[in-house]
Parts: sequence; structure tokens; C-alpha cells
Amino acid sequence: MDLTDKTVVITGGASGLGKATAEHVIKAGGTVAIFDRNEELAHATAKELGQSAAAFNVDVTDEDSLQAAIASVVETFGAIHVNVNCAGIGPAARTLGKAGPMAFEAFKLVVNVNLFGTFNTLRLCAEQMAKNDPVNEDGERGVIVNTASVAAFDGQIGQAAYTASKAGVAGMTLPIARDLGRNGIRVCTIAPGIFETPMMLGAPDQIRLPLIDMVQFPKRLGNASEFALLALQIMQNPYLNGETIRLDGGIRMQPR
Ligand SMILES: NC(=O)c1ccc[n+]([C@@H]2O[C@H](COP(=O)([O-])OP(=O)(O)OC[C@H]3O[C@@H](n4cnc5c(N)ncnc54)[C@H](O)[C@@H]3O)[C@@H](O)[C@H]2O)c1
Repeated sequence: MDLTDKTVVITGGASGLGKATAEHVIKAGGTVAIFDRNEELAHATAKELGQSAAAFNVDVTDEDSLQAAIASVVETFGAIHVNVNCAGIGPAARTLGKAGPMAFEAFKLVVNVNLFGTFNTLRLCAEQMAKNDPVNEDGERGVIVNTASVAAFDGQIGQAAYTASKAGVAGMTLPIARDLGRNGIRVCTIAPGIFETPMMLGAPDQIRLPLIDMVQFPKRLGNASEFALLALQIMQNPYLNGETIRLDGGIRMQPR
């Protein structure tokens, strides 16, 4: 899809991988709607990105806030063409820790944001995309880009909830692509390795160095702009569909 004058909804777009994707979309001629529950940061990011960006206060787990924001995007920009799902959380806890079993609520929270929040957003965006006139000779009406993690495949100690949520995102990619093919909507998922986002930038060497050691090449963490490059390729390449793509420098995560 040519992004010129297209509207791209990015959850978690206030920070990290989502923010980098927003920057690249705007450079490619698109308009960005940032859906983030961090209202202050979302507005600061939209201001930084300029007049092609707008911020919306959204919790992806809350249907009402999503419905309201989607209605507002459609009213303001006329349509939704692309949905990039980057909103996510990753607190770690062992299944059985020193203080006892992992709190069930903690497990549910991670799955609720990462998996249910992704599906909640994409189903409502797809509803809008299906109303678009086709944008190319294939009949394409929309593109969805989800974010899983390499933890979907090789989750580490303490990552049961995070891995369950991200494996769910990877696993639902093909059936969603099958569901939405008749509507002219493609869906792919990116499974990032370890990236330099606000979360990792502050980490001390004793955390960063063992992670970098697990990367094959290049021996460093990923840059958010490299995530954005792949997200843009998925939006722009009409034959990418139904696939989860690792973006990880060849990393295979060890148990810890
Ligand atoms: N950074 C990495 O190394 C890495 C690796 C693999 C996967 N990921 C995944 O990539 C995605 C983006 O990660 P990041 O590093 O950019 O993180 P980040 O913390 O910089 O950004 C995540 C954004 O999501 C928002 N958010 C969280 N919960 C939300 C909710 N319920 N509703 C709306 N917004 C919400 C946060 O406010 C934040 O702005 C996440 O899904 C994460 O699991 C990141």
C-alpha cells in the first residue's frame, strides 16, 4: 500500500517501536493516530511528530475507549488504512517463585494487554478498513501489523505470561489473514528480538551484555528504526500476508 495520504493507527505509538514506526510512516506520506494509555506522552510525541500526527487516549483492553478513538479518527481523517499494534507490557515472574505461585491476576494482565488488546484493536480497525475503496488493482483495503516477540518461540525464565501472550499473537496471525482476505486486508506479525527502546536504554551492562551475547550478528541490540523499516515493508509489499517474521539478528534466547 502506498502510504501517501493514508491513515495509520498505531497503538503504543507514544514510545519505542511504535513511535519509530510513526516517524517512518509520516516520512512516507502518511498520517498517524497514536493510541496510547500514557496520555501525556502520547500528546508530547504527537507534538514532536508535527501536524501529520494526532494523539488519542486509549487503553487497548477497554472496548469503549477504543470505539471512541476509532470514531474520532474516522471523523477527523475520513478512514483507517493501516493498524500497527505495538502496545504491550512485559513484567516477569516465575510460575512458582520464592513467595509462592505467580499471582493469577498478573498472568491475566499481561495476556489481556498483549493478546486481547491486539485482537480488540485489530477487529475494530478491520471493520473500518473493510469500508475503504480498494487502493490498488488487487483490491487491497487495509493492512494490519502486529508485534509479537522472539519470546513467542524461546521464552526465558519468568516469561510464561509474556510468552503465552506473544505466542497467541503469532498464532492468530494466519487465521486472521484467512478471515480478512475476502475484505482485502492483509495481516503480518513482527517478532522482535531485543531492541533499544526506553525500557532497555537504562539497563545496566550486566543485563545488556548477556543479551547481546545471544545475538549472532550484528553484535548489538536492534534499533527501533529497524523495526519501523520492516513494519513499512509489510505495509508497502502487497504479497506479504499471514506470516510472523523474526527480526532479531539471529538471536536464540537462552533460559536466562
Ligand atoms: N523493546 C524490545 O526489546 C521488544 C522486544 C520484543 C517485543 N517487544 C514488543 O514491542 C512492543 C513495543 O515495545 P517497546 O519496547 O516499544 O515498549 P515501550 O514501553 O517503549 O512502548 C509501549 C507503549 O505501549 C503503551 N501501552 C502499554 N499498555 C497499553 C494499553 N493497555 N493501552 C494502550 N497503550 C498501552 C505504553 O504506554 C507505551 O507507550 C510491545 O508489545 C513489546 O512487548 C519489544
